[in-house]
Amino acid sequence: MKKIQFFDTTLRDGEQTPGVNFNTEEKVQIAKQLEAYGIDVIEAGFPISSPGDFEAVRAIAGAVSHMTVAGLARCRKEDIDRAHEALKDAADPQIHVFLATSDIHMKYKLKMTPEEVLASIKEHVAYARSKFEKVQFSPEDATRTNKDFLVKAVQTAIDAGATIINIPDTVGYTNPTEYGALFRHLRENIANFADVTFSSHCHDDLGMATANALAAIENGATRVEGTMNGIGERAGNTAIEEVAIALHIRKDFYQAESSIVFNQTKRTSDLVSRLSGVSIPRNKAVIGANAYAHESGIHQDGVLKNPDTYEIITPSLVGVDSNSLPLGKLSGKHAFATRVAELGYDLAADEMNDAFKRFKVLADKKKQVTVDDLHALIAGQTQEK
Ligand code: KIV
Ligand code: ZN
Repeated sequence: MKKIQFFDTTLRDGEQTPGVNFNTEEKVQIAKQLEAYGIDVIEAGFPISSPGDFEAVRAIAGAVSHMTVAGLARCRKEDIDRAHEALKDAADPQIHVFLATSDIHMKYKLKMTPEEVLASIKEHVAYARSKFEKVQFSPEDATRTNKDFLVKAVQTAIDAGATIINIPDTVGYTNPTEYGALFRHLRENIANFADVTFSSHCHDDLGMATANALAAIENGATRVEGTMNGIGERAGNTAIEEVAIALHIRKDFYQAESSIVFNQTKRTSDLVSRLSGVSIPRNKAVIGANAYAHESGIHQDGVLKNPDTYEIITPSLVGVDSNSLPLGKLSGKHAFATRVAELGYDLAADEMNDAFKRFKVLADKKKQVTVDDLHALIAGQTQEK
């Protein structure tokens, strides 16, 4: 089994979600919960970006004990110094230095030549290494970077002292086949690939962030960056809870394990949703309200006989109380009778048949039949007698 580490950037990339702004107290609350959830590294913020971010990184560095605490920095000495200052109380600090390497970013955003970019990586990674034991370098927009140049940039960073290389799919452009091949290419062309931690960092613009992270793991990445509930710029980042549970449920395939404490999943997700104000879609994998709900009669019958028929994740594994069998027009007699019995009614067979027929008529007119509807339906039937 290989060990996969989780790097959570809910408080940095996640806070880049339009409309999201955590205060320091909220950030510390989230950081402590992420620690309880088993996250290995937390990116607490971008210290030079604002006094508030600096303060939050400092507060988190002093508040957590097991997690590595990372701060983001551009390839600028003042960014690195500010991150160093913010992280000085951290038990295990890490710096995350980044610089774009794609043609489009170098030409239009940075206005730097490829040679200047390589020189800046060399200088600033070395400077970061003079202050930190753990230095991560990210070639921003790596998936749209010329592959030969990406190898040069990554090798330059490693030679200058980077201990972690993160490969960002900054604009969510890649797909699992291509992203997996990119990690293979790096594995085959970077001299000391095995001495360095390689990490994935994906965005979800094409809906492939989770699949891309898993493809990276299949091809040599041992760390995954993401956010809780997948919040982040535009369509968001890789949802950590999805990758973590996929590795666990498909351990047979990935042959990997992590330190994630699965029964803290729902609690962590709920906290981030509440403090970010970003609600979770009902059909969201792992943590959506419908993820453990079975509506059709065939599914309900199967689940009542054995949950494994339609549930690959046991709700309690992720801290969800139980599955649910909402009653709607597609529901069958098994689920209906079970719910009626749970409500305390002991109906004879003909009464049950009659009640089920009335239920079907009602269910055709409503999205969902509630407990109150059931009481009314059975009370009406008893009164008619
Ligand atoms: O998406 C991205 O490229 C980033 C970098 C700062 C790593 O978030
Ligand atoms: Zn990002």
